[in-house]
Amino acid sequence: MIVTSNLLSKLFKTNNSEIRLFCLNLLKKKITFKYLDKKKEKDLIKKLIKKIAIDSQKVGAKVRKRVWYRGWKETLDLVVKKREKSYLPKYLSLQKNNIFRLNGKFVKSKKNFEIQMLNIYRNWYFQKYFNLVDNIYEFGVGTGHNLIALSKLFPKKVLYGSDFVSPSIKILKNIKKDKNIDLKFFIFDMEKPNKNLKIQKNSAVYTSGAIEQLSGRIENFVNFLIKNKPKIVLHSEPILQFYKSNNQVDALGKIFHLKRSYTSNLYTLLSKYEKEGKINIIKKLKSPFGSLMMEGYSLIVWKPTK
Ligand SMILES: C[S@@+](CC[C@H](N)C(=O)[O-])C[C@H]1O[C@@H](n2cnc3c(N)ncnc32)[C@H](O)[C@@H]1O
Repeated sequence: MIVTSNLLSKLFKTNNSEIRLFCLNLLKKKITFKYLDKKKEKDLIKKLIKKIAIDSQKVGAKVRKRVWYRGWKETLDLVVKKREKSYLPKYLSLQKNNIFRLNGKFVKSKKNFEIQMLNIYRNWYFQKYFNLVDNIYEFGVGTGHNLIALSKLFPKKVLYGSDFVSPSIKILKNIKKDKNIDLKFFIFDMEKPNKNLKIQKNSAVYTSGAIEQLSGRIENFVNFLIKNKPKIVLHSEPILQFYKSNNQVDALGKIFHLKRSYTSNLYTLLSKYEKEGKINIIKKLKSPFGSLMMEGYSLIVWKPTK
């Protein structure tokens, strides 16, 4: 099967003309996939149950800061020495398997399926939600690949990137020079937001797989955002509550999410703030695609109220 604009409009819960407007050039190179048959799906589920049982990584643990430091330092050394041209994080560029999730089912595709889908997806949501702002802030940037994508779409907007480990900020410094992008960067710990940071007027805030890493310690960050009144906030994160309860593939994603202690209170906190009149939620979308283990790309878009 082929990923078409029609399929994407259903997955992104929007209309076909919007997908064609924002993503058509990325669909020129055909993305093909096959749903797994029942037997293969059953065998895979058995394997994944074993894999989850022995998985011992815990996000949000103290040691994780060192792990991120080391990981991004390795990338920094490679890009500075020009041994690596791509700023994609290794967990995407070095995918070993070719099984992914699409619309709550397992699919077999090429190894770069997730990267291609991510590229199309962010091209869509960046243009849909960030067109009118002057500044865009990404928190928990990692290697800065999302900022590179943003700079291609919006060369005139001011882009800000931050992370809690210094090699990530040094990678941004390198991108600025290497790609001649007007990037601004700073260290920022989302668990302990720096109150001196003032978000500029008419700004968007973006997180992608960064809130997930806080293991639920998100209230300070969300309060910091509300206080700074950005025009719009977009999270592309795994959202536990969006998995469907009657779907085995989703159930496995949910168990993996809980085992790793990924943040699971973003949706509940934002819903509470919406009821209290502090914010308006504009879009909720279950991750249209995902990796072998989980759906990491659910969308929540919101705005602080006046
Ligand atoms: C899974 S990576 C995602 C990186 C990037 N946003 C992306 O889409 O590829 C998670 C990022 O969150 C950062 N991070 C983890 N805890 C953080 C914290 N407390 N404050 C700021 N950044 C944090 C890590 O250093 C890492 O760069």
